[in-house]
Order: sequence, then structure tokens, then C-alpha cells
Amino acid sequence: MSDATTRPSGPFRYGDRVQLTGPKGRLSTITLREGGELHTHHGVLKHAMLVGLDDGSVVANSADAEYLALRPLLRDFVMSMPRGAAIVYPKDAAQIVAQADVFPGAVVVEAGVGSGALALSLIRAIGPEGRLVSFERRAEFADVALANVETFLGAMPDTWRVVVGDLVEQLPTAVEPASVDRVVLDMLAPWECIDVVADALTPGGVVICYVATATQLSRVAEYLRLTGLFTEPEANETMVRGWHVEGLAVRPDHRMVAHTGFLISARRLAPGAVPPEVKRRASKSSYGDDDVEQWTPGAVGDRQITDKNLRKRVRDAQRAAGGARHAAAGTDAVSAPGAGSTDAPSSAEEPSA
Ligand SMILES: C[S@@+](CC[C@H](N)C(=O)[O-])C[C@H]1O[C@@H](n2cnc3c(N)ncnc32)[C@H](O)[C@@H]1O
Repeated sequence: MSDATTRPSGPFRYGDRVQLTGPKGRLSTITLREGGELHTHHGVLKHAMLVGLDDGSVVANSADAEYLALRPLLRDFVMSMPRGAAIVYPKDAAQIVAQADVFPGAVVVEAGVGSGALALSLIRAIGPEGRLVSFERRAEFADVALANVETFLGAMPDTWRVVVGDLVEQLPTAVEPASVDRVVLDMLAPWECIDVVADALTPGGVVICYVATATQLSRVAEYLRLTGLFTEPEANETMVRGWHVEGLAVRPDHRMVAHTGFLISARRLAPGAVPPEVKRRASKSSYGDDDVEQWTPGAVGDRQITDKNLRKRVRDAQRAAGGARHAAAGTDAVSAPGAGSTDAPSSAEEPSA
């Protein structure tokens, strides 16, 4: 067991993980052990040569090939660690911590733990006084996560517990009702868990879901609203575009990770509370809760045209077609009394919502 905030520092010691950048920028990560050697076609680097050197030192191997030695940052580790399931990328983990306001001392629930990437950021954010309970329904994935966290931190943090099982079944018995400050869901169907999450969250607590597709985003938003137990959900995505900065060549990178997932968050209302206003919701005349699963114009946010405006548009379109017909025949179009110019914007023009 260890304090979750500990991280190796000072000169390299046996047991430390070291990221080596070798010839042509090639990366290798090693764990220093007595008698250990890194063999490449550039020669042999004895682990012992690194022990006692400062983080950020350069060392040469048997063939004089040079290696830069650094302790991996959390983001370096996460991007190269073994994966059972897809991970939350560091850019999204940082946003989850910030948007859900995961604070030192917080009681946090996470599901599923997957490969443990997000768990590492959450363990850091809650500090030595917090508590993280991670749920995972696949035991093999939980094993990968446990091993990854132990590898990065050097020991199992005593602030972290992994429960193998489905969140819906396990959460009600794993935590007291209304005792959890933050819940993070990274799974295919987070809406299936919202009821138990609502029971576990303390009033004012935050639920945040990370989903890969717009259809999942929509479904979880509508479910959160349907419960009437949360504030209006807020959704966003984070894109990080790297820049090449060298001499006069200062420009965005040609390639980037364009899509990982969306975040959607909401706060638990106090029991019985009804928020004073529900924002950005189409009027009841446009659609009802039952319509959301049907592709009505109201459900997709389009305003419906009135019958009167539609009749006027039909007249406008027919008048324009008549004008075009006369132009093709070389005769003058006869304007109907009160008809406007055919290329003027229609007064019935309605912006879409
Ligand atoms: C994308 S992975 C999570 C990755 C993880 N956040 C990370 O950063 O490494 C999704 C995981 O959720 C698990 N899962 C899905 N539904 C679950 C549920 N209802 N309860 C517990 N785990 C669930 C899956 O088995 C899978 O391992």
C-alpha cells in the first residue's frame, strides 16, 4: 500500500521506470533492475549505468549510441501501457477532472475501470484523503487496470478499491446512499446506470459521462432529463491540435487525433427540488418526451412551418416557376396582384432552431 500522491524523485534507483529516447528518436521504456541490460541493434545499455544519474541525463551504450533518460510522465505511461479496453486519453482525463471538479478528499465512483488510464488521473486528483471506487464487469480488464496502476505508482494506493461486477448491481451495496461526490461513467450504455448513480450521489454531486458517439450522447442527455433528478446536462468535446514550432516553420501539425469522445455532465438536485427554468428546450408544442425517439422535426430541433406560411411558400415557388417558363418561351410573365419579386427573400423565412 502507498500514499497515492507518491512519485519517485531524485536520482534513478533500481525499480524505477525510465523512458529512453535513443538514436532517431526511438522510445523504449525499461524498469531498472540489477544485472538488467537493454539490447538493441545499436548495442547494449546496462541498467547499472543509469542508477544514480539524475532524471533527464544522457547516457551512452556499448557502441557509443546516446540515450536520453527520463521518468515517464503520467501521459507517457498511459499511452504506452498494456490495454484491455480502449482508454480515456490524457486530454479527456484532464477535462474530466476539471469539469467534474474532482477535488482532494473527494469520494469518487468510476465505471468501467477498463485499462485503468482514467483511474490514474482520478487517484491523483483525490489525493491522500480521497476515495476512489472503480467498478468493472470484466475481471480480466480489472486485472489489467490493477497491474497498470501498481506499475505506475510502484504500489497499490490505499485510496483505491476495485469492485468486479456490473455497476447497476454492485453500486447500491458498495456505497451508502447520497454519499458519493462524483461519478464518472465510461461505458457503452451509461443511461442504464443513471438511476443507481442518482441514489449514490450526494445533493450537488456531479455525474460525468464519456461517450464515443453522438447517438450515445443524445440518449444519456435525454435520460438525465427524464429522471428530473439532475440539472440540465452540459456537453462538449475537446480537440487538442499540436503545433510544429521550429525556426520560421510555425504551424499546426499536419496530423492530429480528431475524435476520441464527448463529455456530458450534470449535477444531482436536492431531493424534491425542481429547477426554476429548463434551458434550451424546444417548446412543448414542438415535441413531447415521447417524440424524442421518433424523428419528428421538433425532436431534431427544427421549427415546424405553419400551414399559412407553407401555403405562401407554395405560391412563391409556383410564381417563380411560371416566370421561368415565360422566360424560356420568350414571353413576359404576368405578376399576380400583390405578388413580390421572385428573387426577394420571403417574409415567411424562418430561421431553423
Ligand atoms: C472503454 S472501457 C473504460 C476505459 C477506462 N476508463 C480507461 O481509461 O482505461 C469501458 C469498460 O466499461 C466496462 N463496463 C461496461 N458497462 C459496465 C457496467 N455496467 N458496469 C461495470 N463495468 C462496465 C467494460 O467492461 C469496459 O471495460
